[in-house]
Amino acid sequence: MIFRELNNAKCKTYLIASESMERAVIVDPVKDRVERYLGVLAYHRLKLDLIVDTHTHADHRSGAHELSELTGTPVAMHRRAPAPHVRMHLEDGQRLIIGDFELKVLYTPGHTPDSISLYAEDRVLTGDCLLIHGTGRADFAGGDAGEQYDSITDKLFTLPDDTMVYPAHDYRGHVHSTVGEEKGSNPRVAGRSREAYVELMNNLGFPLPEGIQEALQPNQTEIEAAAIQFPTLAQLNSVRQLSPAEVAERLGTAAAPLLLDVREPGEYTGELGHIAGARLIPLRELPERAPAELAPFKDKDIVAICRAGVRSTTAAAILAGLGFDHACNMKGGMLDWKEAGLPVER
Ligand SMILES: [Fe+2]
Repeated sequence: MIFRELNNAKCKTYLIASESMERAVIVDPVKDRVERYLGVLAYHRLKLDLIVDTHTHADHRSGAHELSELTGTPVAMHRRAPAPHVRMHLEDGQRLIIGDFELKVLYTPGHTPDSISLYAEDRVLTGDCLLIHGTGRADFAGGDAGEQYDSITDKLFTLPDDTMVYPAHDYRGHVHSTVGEEKGSNPRVAGRSREAYVELMNNLGFPLPEGIQEALQPNQTEIEAAAIQFPTLAQLNSVRQLSPAEVAERLGTAAAPLLLDVREPGEYTGELGHIAGARLIPLRELPERAPAELAPFKDKDIVAICRAGVRSTTAAAILAGLGFDHACNMKGGMLDWKEAGLPVER
């Protein structure tokens, strides 16, 4: 097995490959280094079988989509990942076969709702869930410190103590650690209760990453920042959120809202389907089309809908900015709608 970190930077990208079968996977590629990855693959005569993002990154542009377009290789992420370019949606416990080795998917939410770790033989890629002598932040992009504590203590810390830990970031020049070392001395987790961890993480008081919207929005929508005016975080935070049950309840009333599905056409008719009567305007076309097409709904309730409820929050904030005062979001998107057992059409 070839195992290599490719960036030599704070932000880590891993190449894992079967040398004998000439098959590879790249985990967490960074957009401005895609050409370097192609060079490494070509030099070793490796066919790229899979591209994985361990989660939706907020601090840098992911190279997954670009690498996928250049190589024809599918992108895999957890099923909670909001981005439309993800071809393989992963579940906890799923096994990915790359040549003659296997990666086991561990669902480790908390840093984000779509965070996974990848376990292979003697090592685990922990994304930004567990870092070396640290943990990833859980205070934005849907993070949840309690969930993160559970992911670390119930999942990652139950792996053998000598399992090597390779995180997606390191700011202090570490290369790897072990599960045993982190269990014993990780300053955020070791000896701390769940409550104490949540208290600590909710009061870190760090500023938001610089340019968070410029990285996060294109990563989760696949739309370039130059193509659309993305809302600010304050605008996103003021979007009213309705659960799928609340949306379903309103559909049966005289004041039924307009359901606005903002996914790509292929998703609307795809695996998750759509809600009967939902009108499709993909997010990338919304700023241009909304003023004319949605004019009759200016004073009516509009519920924006997407896969995971992330892109649609952006859509609702854009609508609010265009003067649609009653635009809100369906929390958890079609994933939660379907999980609630509510009906869909295709
Ligand atoms: Fe991250």
